[in-house]
Amino acid sequence: MSATMAFAELHSLVAKLESDIAAGPIVPAVAPHEIRRHLAARYDFTRPLDLDEVGADVEAMLRTWQVHVTHPRYFGLFNPSVTLASVVADTLVALFNPQLATWRTSPAANEIERHTLAWLMGKFGFPSTALASFTSGGAEANLSAVIVALTRAFPEYGEDGLRALAATPTVYLSGEAHHSFSKIAHVTGLGRRAIRTVTTDRHLRMDVGDLARRVAEDRRAGCAPFMVVGTAGTTAAGVIDPLPELAQFCRSEGLWFHVDAAWGGAAIISPRLRGHLAGIEAADSITCDAHKWFSVPMGAGMFFCRHPDAVGRAFRVETSYMPGKTPGPTHDPYTTSIQWSRRFIGLKLFLALAEHGEAGYVEMIEHQTRMGDVLRLALQRAGWRIVNSSPLPLVCFTREGLDTAGFLAALYQRQIAWMSDVRLAGGDPVLRACVTSYRTTESDIEWVVREMTRLA
Ligand SMILES: Cc1ncc(COP(=O)(O)O)c(C=O)c1O
Repeated sequence: MSATMAFAELHSLVAKLESDIAAGPIVPAVAPHEIRRHLAARYDFTRPLDLDEVGADVEAMLRTWQVHVTHPRYFGLFNPSVTLASVVADTLVALFNPQLATWRTSPAANEIERHTLAWLMGKFGFPSTALASFTSGGAEANLSAVIVALTRAFPEYGEDGLRALAATPTVYLSGEAHHSFSKIAHVTGLGRRAIRTVTTDRHLRMDVGDLARRVAEDRRAGCAPFMVVGTAGTTAAGVIDPLPELAQFCRSEGLWFHVDAAWGGAAIISPRLRGHLAGIEAADSITCDAHKWFSVPMGAGMFFCRHPDAVGRAFRVETSYMPGKTPGPTHDPYTTSIQWSRRFIGLKLFLALAEHGEAGYVEMIEHQTRMGDVLRLALQRAGWRIVNSSPLPLVCFTREGLDTAGFLAALYQRQIAWMSDVRLAGGDPVLRACVTSYRTTESDIEWVVREMTRLA
C-alpha cells in the first residue's frame, strides 16, 4: 500500500474517531487494579501476539480509560483537539524516524523546522538573527530560557557552576506563573528559594512596583537579580502580565526578560488578539507551545531567543563521534538546545499550517475566543459569578455556597463536561473552564451551562 493510500485511510479513521469521541463519555470511571488486571491477563510477553488484535485492544483501552481531551466538551488544561494534518505528520515522522540532532543527518526536516519557527518568530517581532528550536513542551522551553539567561549573566556558570558565583542569582515571577519554574530552579542548582514571588494586582497581573521594590531590596542584600518571567496567559486564569512595563523595567535594570506564552502565545497571529501581547517583541526569550493553542499533538513546545550567541554558549559541545559541523548558515540542534537525539517535532505544526493556512489558524483561534465569550455570557445570565479577567477563552467562575469538589464529581459522573478547579491568589476553589477545542460549538456551551446550572 502506498503512503498516500494509507493516509486516506487515516483520514477516515480520524474522522470516525472524532465523531465517536464527541458522542461518547468524557471522563472514565476506572480504578488502577482494573487496568492492571486486564494487562496482566493478556500481556506477559512470552509469545508474539497478532498486531491487529493488540492494536484493537489498545484502542479500546484508550477509548474507555482516559479523559477525552479532544472531546468538544473538554474545557481543560490547554490540551487541544488535534488537527488531522498534525496526526498525519506524527505518523510520517514515526515512519521515517529522522534524527534531527545534526543538520546533515536530516537536512529536509531541519529546514522545515527552521522555516516554521522563522514564520512564528516574525509574528513575535523578533529579528531574523534570533534562534529558535522545538522542545518537548513549555517546561523544557522555560528551562532553556533559564539556562541561557544564567549563562549570559554569569559567564562562569557554565564551567564552574553556581558555586563559583560571588552573589546568589535571583529570578522574579508572579505567584500565577507556571510551576515549572520551581522545578527549573531545583534542577539548575539555583534552588527553589532563588525564585522571588512578586505580588499581583486585583486582576492577577504582576505588580511592577512590587517587582522594582524586590529587585532593589535583593541588590541591597547582595543578591544578583538576573531574570524576570512575565506570563502571557497564566495557567490558572489566562491573565497576561503587563509586558510593555516589564520589558521597560528589565531594559533599565539589565535583567533578562522571558515571556512564558506557552498557551497564550498563539494569539499573536490573530489581528483581534495580538494587541494583548504587545511588549512580547521586546523579550529576550519566549516560550510558546504548539501542543496547546496551535492544536497539534504532544509534545511540541518552542523556545525563541533573541541572543543566538548566548544559546550557542549555553549548549555548546564537541565530540568526535558526531558528524562535523556543516559549513554554511546552518546549526546542529544538539549544540543549540538541551536535547541530543531529536525527534522531528516541528512537522505537525508545519503540515497543519500548510493545510489550513494562516487564515485558517486565525479562524480556529478566534472561534475559540468567541466561544470563551459565549461561555462567559451564558454563565453570567445563569447567575454564575465570573472571577477572572482575561481576553483569552479561559473562564473562572463560581456561585454562592458552591461545593466545588462535589460539583465537579457530579459533573464528571453525568458526563456533562470536563473542567477543573483552581484557587486564584490562594482564595477558595473556583471552577476553571478553558475552551481548548476548535470543535466546541455554541450549542455545546449552552447545553453545558444549562446542565451545570441545573446541577448546582
Ligand atoms: C503558562 C505555562 N507555562 C508552561 C507550561 C508547561 O508546558 P508543558 O506542559 O508543555 O511542559 C504550561 C502548561 O500548562 C503553562 O500553562
